[in-house]
Amino acid sequence: MEKTLTEMAVEVLETANGRAKTALSREHAARWFAHRDAGNMLTIGKASPPLRPARPDRPELLDPRDVPKRKPGSPEGRIALLHAVAHIELNAVDLHWDLIARFGDVEMPPGFYDDWVKAADEESKHFNLVSDCLEAHGSHYGALPAHAGMWRAAEDTVNDPMGRLAVVPMVLEARGLDVTPGMIEIFRKAKDDGAVAALETIYSEEVGHVAYGSKWFHFLCGRDGLDPKPVFHDLVRRYFHGALKPPFNDEKRAEAGIPPDFYWPLSETG
Ligand SMILES: [Fe+2]
Ligand SMILES: [Fe+2]
Repeated sequence: MEKTLTEMAVEVLETANGRAKTALSREHAARWFAHRDAGNMLTIGKASPPLRPARPDRPELLDPRDVPKRKPGSPEGRIALLHAVAHIELNAVDLHWDLIARFGDVEMPPGFYDDWVKAADEESKHFNLVSDCLEAHGSHYGALPAHAGMWRAAEDTVNDPMGRLAVVPMVLEARGLDVTPGMIEIFRKAKDDGAVAALETIYSEEVGHVAYGSKWFHFLCGRDGLDPKPVFHDLVRRYFHGALKPPFNDEKRAEAGIPPDFYWPLSETG
């Protein structure tokens, strides 16, 4: 019997090692799309994802206040930055598979699964690209401490698919669009072509993930006859802790289908 999509998602979530998790994630994504292309879509099924995904013993997870700050201009600072990005990407792999597995009982069109499987596949590639950069610099994912609490958004929205879409792709991943150009500049100045290439790939593909968030958030609002903007504001205020931080990347946010009146009222100055 072919595995269902939600079973495959749970397998990824239950794999601890980063490279093993991303390898399995890419394999499952390829299987999903091979079946789609053959007109033989896999069953979505219903699976029970763990509340928290399996994680490797390293990195040590610390409260963000306890993660040592390093100067971004120094070589150690750049490694710490890449390490933080690798940690975000690994969490993102799990966040997308969790979205698929967690809400398997909410009826969605096949395109919903196509989008999130593709996003999970891309996050897996991102983790590997950034891990390769770390290894090229004699480091590796797990060598430094990382932020605990990255999974909080998932736990907070465990019963709320619209809340999940509002907070994860439309707030957290949209924030990535704001900060990535600055990071690319840091590595460009350091003439680290490998890191620049990896971050540019991430930057261009993340626009798509934010767009999927906006698309499916609007879909769910439309299906329930809800006005998306006030619903978005309510959900972000409920589940996201703190104000959104300008400056915003208005251009890329617009490209991803998030208009300014969605985020400005939630910002420190809004
Ligand atoms: Fe990513
Ligand atoms: Fe992403």
